[in-house]
Amino acid sequence: MPQWTRVELGDRAFEALVRLVHEHCGITLSTVKKTMLETRLRRRLHANGLDNFDDYVALLRSPTERAKELQNFVDTVVTNETSFFRERAHFDHLDAAELDRLLANAGTRQLRAWSAACSSGQEVYTLAMVLDAASDGATKWDWQILATDISVKVLTAAREAIYRAEDVASVPPALRDRYVLRARDPQSEAVRMAPELRSRVQFGQLNLMHSEYHVKTKMDLIFLRNVLIYFEPKTQEAVVAKLCRHLRPGGLLFLGHSDTTRSGSLPLRLIRGNIYQRLED
Ligand SMILES: C[S@@+](CC[C@H](N)C(=O)[O-])C[C@H]1O[C@@H](n2cnc3c(N)ncnc32)[C@H](O)[C@@H]1O
Repeated sequence: MPQWTRVELGDRAFEALVRLVHEHCGITLSTVKKTMLETRLRRRLHANGLDNFDDYVALLRSPTERAKELQNFVDTVVTNETSFFRERAHFDHLDAAELDRLLANAGTRQLRAWSAACSSGQEVYTLAMVLDAASDGATKWDWQILATDISVKVLTAAREAIYRAEDVASVPPALRDRYVLRARDPQSEAVRMAPELRSRVQFGQLNLMHSEYHVKTKMDLIFLRNVLIYFEPKTQEAVVAKLCRHLRPGGLLFLGHSDTTRSGSLPLRLIRGNIYQRLED
């Protein structure tokens, strides 16, 4: 009788994969993530016709083969957890009066926002609903959002903007009625964000580890939530410093509740609950 066993992730291969994740994404994976990595990457072994993790590491290290698999690897290992109106206090802060004041102080009628680790788009469309409602459908002032992430898989989902009905349960009813479309098929549980929101969001891939971010627009709002937590302190500071250059004076930076950064040397003032305001240089 043959014995059956699953392919196991040995310590050496695990350490090599941890190094790769760190080098490419800046993410520090602890040993408690070993089982998670093993389970998620078994599918990639299968997809590449491999039967052990050492060969998978060799593939990711190979100068000729690497390019084909690296994005799949990244898409598989990152944590994409997100939801509509996550950490709601941030969106409550952005009421119409606050946004009007922000724009009046900047002397502009164009609000530019950036979600810099946007995952599958729930944060982006939450912000889009809030901005569109506050601007009376972009009539009082214009708004646009840049949404970026390292993962192509989540960006594809975010662009499609299709979710399950239960995902939008946290959206206040007035906004849901206005901006969430139901499928024509009454059996379907799918919902889609309204085109007037989708048309104002531009998606793109951006790795926060890059030495600079090629984004020309100065932002009024930057969301960098629930991603710093995966980086080590030095990287956290460097990422916040780089993003700070893209925030105009008076603009707001939103970090997740569990994200921390030492912003002491940066031109930032903590307003409340991980909301920072960019000071003049
Ligand atoms: C936990 S989700 C947070 C999503 C959203 N900001 C929120 O708070 O709900 C973290 C996101 O950060 C992205 N990410 C991880 N490392 C990154 C990097 N180096 N550059 C850009 N995005 C990264 C992941 O792909 C993932 O979509």
